[in-house]
Amino acid sequence: MIHEKNLVFTLHTAWTTYIFRVNETNHLEQLYYGRRIGTTDHMEPLYDKHTISVGNSVSYDEEHPSLTLDNICLEYSSYGKGDFREPPILFSRQNGDRIADFHYKEHRIIKGKPRSFSGLPESYGDKNQCMTLIVVLKERVSALRLELSYTTFDQANVIVRKASLTNDMGETIILQRFSSLQLDLPTSDYSLVTFDGAWARERYRTAQRLRSGIHVNDSKTGVSSSRHNPCLFLTTNEDNDNQGDCYGCNLIYSGDHAQHIETTPYGKVRLLTGLNPATFSWQLHPGEKFHTPEAILTFSHEGLNGTSRNFHRFINSHIVRGSWKYHQRPIVVNNWEATYFNFSEHALLKLARKAADLGAELFVLDDGWFGSREDDTTSLGDWTVNTKKLPDGLASLSKKIHGMGLLFGLWCEPEMVSRKSQLYREHPEWLVSVPGRNPSPGRNQYLLDLTREDVRDYLFESLSNIWKLANVDYVKWDMNRMFSDMYSNSEKFQQEEFNHRYMLGLYSLLQRFVEAFPQLLFESCASGGNRFDLGMLCYMPQTWTSDNTDALSRVYIQEGTSYGYPLSSMGAHVSESPNHQTLRVSNLESRFNVAAFGLLGYEMDLSQLSTQENEVIRNQIAFYKVHRSLLQYGEFFRFKTIADNNQAIWVVSAPDRTEMLALFFQTLNIPNPPTDILRIPIADPDLTYAVTPRRERIDLKSFGTLVNMVSPIRIKNDGNLQRLVDETVHLENELEYYIVNGDVLAYRGIVLNQQFGGTGYDKETRVLGDFGSRIYHLKALKG
Ligand code: GLA
Repeated sequence: MIHEKNLVFTLHTAWTTYIFRVNETNHLEQLYYGRRIGTTDHMEPLYDKHTISVGNSVSYDEEHPSLTLDNICLEYSSYGKGDFREPPILFSRQNGDRIADFHYKEHRIIKGKPRSFSGLPESYGDKNQCMTLIVVLKERVSALRLELSYTTFDQANVIVRKASLTNDMGETIILQRFSSLQLDLPTSDYSLVTFDGAWARERYRTAQRLRSGIHVNDSKTGVSSSRHNPCLFLTTNEDNDNQGDCYGCNLIYSGDHAQHIETTPYGKVRLLTGLNPATFSWQLHPGEKFHTPEAILTFSHEGLNGTSRNFHRFINSHIVRGSWKYHQRPIVVNNWEATYFNFSEHALLKLARKAADLGAELFVLDDGWFGSREDDTTSLGDWTVNTKKLPDGLASLSKKIHGMGLLFGLWCEPEMVSRKSQLYREHPEWLVSVPGRNPSPGRNQYLLDLTREDVRDYLFESLSNIWKLANVDYVKWDMNRMFSDMYSNSEKFQQEEFNHRYMLGLYSLLQRFVEAFPQLLFESCASGGNRFDLGMLCYMPQTWTSDNTDALSRVYIQEGTSYGYPLSSMGAHVSESPNHQTLRVSNLESRFNVAAFGLLGYEMDLSQLSTQENEVIRNQIAFYKVHRSLLQYGEFFRFKTIADNNQAIWVVSAPDRTEMLALFFQTLNIPNPPTDILRIPIADPDLTYAVTPRRERIDLKSFGTLVNMVSPIRIKNDGNLQRLVDETVHLENELEYYIVNGDVLAYRGIVLNQQFGGTGYDKETRVLGDFGSRIYHLKALKG
């Protein structure tokens, strides 16, 4: 709901209100963003008060000697007129004038959300779900038109903002910075929560109190990156995800981004988000209009969990589109960590047969099926089958896999070229490089120039052909290096524009693919989660979260990712132990428990499983299928975070709280441990719940030689006897079953059985060990 009265604009969503006004100098003054309020008749108490001018400040003009733009919360600040905070926009005119002073001109309010046709990915919603306000501002001297757009998504409590600049002058201007959003808040008593990392440790949560100065959260890698995700939060309570006033912000963009968070000398905060000015520059010619990517903004008084929930709902309803929207995602078996590059059709079929037998639904053939690819030094760009490995071709393989009742999926890495490839021999000019410089390789490969239409056409044709030929149901779209040597040999534009033009090229190619293959399930990937963002999610409903599938690492990674993105977007596979990225040993049940809080898959050599492991995985898959809609689309909460504790407690819940699943995960086993409590603050006080742990198998081997305390014959570690006993003795997890009132569960929590702590063991003992976990099922009793 949006309305305007006396040039005061009020934007309501179900739980939030956002207000700004046109002030006496015709600038937009931000007045309120927070919990939904009722009447907005008396807004004067919120106006900035200025009756005296201070010290060395700059007054806006002679008519307003005490008004300095530097200390007012503004919607979109001017540059060069006394506001010394980070500017949202910077440009220069041909005479060197860089002043940007935008004044309110007019506005319109529209039901729904008009498409901008900017070539950028956009959120969407119909007239019942959203409303849009467009405020037009005009630069005081030059003929530049700035349009600020605000769309309120009522149920998701999200406001989508973007800006566009139209050049109505007779001269070209150079745009050097153009933020999608500026948010000025009146106080600075917040912690900044960001998601930082690197390859194999993506999106670890970082929380820090705001201090004076400017914090920059950005990427200059060419992709949104695993270093600093564009999603961030400002919260008054970083210690408890369920409490506090919390603002969340994200960007619908997959390239270089920057978020500036400035604490001002007057105790205010400015947040800017958008294209990264460090790598952005654009010539805006007469008559042209430039659009920023969309930024999304939310608020919740229920802390980080509240803002996460808003984002999850928004992404599932207004970002993800097409036939897989709110659709249950298939359980994957991917051959990568089972075979790497070394496979034959025979080996793949063996793996697929086992996948089908265990209940998986989609078999994915990863890297190595094309050109003459035997390792990662060759063939990217040659999207034809590797007949050495697959002499009968992909169509035949796909047919056999479909014949097993499985869907068939294929890996590809379209944005890349190897120098050792047919494509490079034919088109060296398609490789991104600066004339006269040797381009820098990344994973032995180079970027293809996606700013070029001929390159995009080639990719569309060659990949469409192979996908049709192999009748694929799923595509994993990978991208395994960051940018270097940014330059297009097409020379159709200013080279400073390369990074953004690459993204526009990529998006236009993705749009073509999703239109041509509307039923295909796409999963985006970039060396794991190097491009986990809302831009990619507009085309591809799921993302490979990380190459690191170690259970402990995944708790950090999936927990960090969950702040901004729903479980339905996160690919999560069970892999071997010792893990291939960390060499850490963890038990199979725990690896599943973590992967189950995401889009489940297996990425290990299933053909080598023991009989017991077969049974374990069969049961895991059956469990996941029963609870799949809750695990993929339930409302998600973090009640204990691994980032702050030795334990994590995550919950997915039906909207009416009648059914929930809770993950209890611990990092290290503590000898003689404290009592574990399972408290679910969102339990419905009026309901009564039955609570049971998922039936799991306890690995007898985990007791080592301690079994000799009860064994009639001596069992050695790693001996044949130990293997035999492990195969034949079926040991299940503790017997623990409760009926509990929702109020007790919410306000106090269940005292769980004792954990194994170095002394005795019986059927009641919870044996978790290091990196151990349980999933608890909570179901409301009827009546
Ligand atoms: C990247 C991906 C992996 C796998 C390999 C194949 O690293 O993240 O999942 O597909 O490429 O080369």
